[in-house]
Amino acid sequence: MTIVIFELPDGTQRKVTAEPGTVLMQAAVSNGVDGIVAECGGNASCATCHVYVDARHTELVGPPNDVEDEMLDFTAAERRPTSRLSCQIQLSDALDGLLVHVPEEQV
Ligand code: FES
Repeated sequence: MTIVIFELPDGTQRKVTAEPGTVLMQAAVSNGVDGIVAECGGNASCATCHVYVDARHTELVGPPNDVEDEMLDFTAAERRPTSRLSCQIQLSDALDGLLVHVPEEQV
């Protein structure tokens, strides 16, 4: 299992576990993590699953692809260099312990 930590805007953390291969957005939604809306269901077309990958993990997670990169221009909260759409991140053993920050707003 892969452990992921979602840090909410108020600083509280939600630790969830997911099978490797699970999409990060799905891990959040399945576990009722507040602040991950995912209106489009994971098609990289709504930008409401926006997260900030913790600086310690950005290299490991990697950059967005071209479609995601365009959608990241439409996030409700400011886009940062560490911004990713959680529906485009597939969990793996290498990402065990991943920390992501949930933005203040998604819509
Ligand atoms: S769920 Fe819509 S862009 Fe990720």
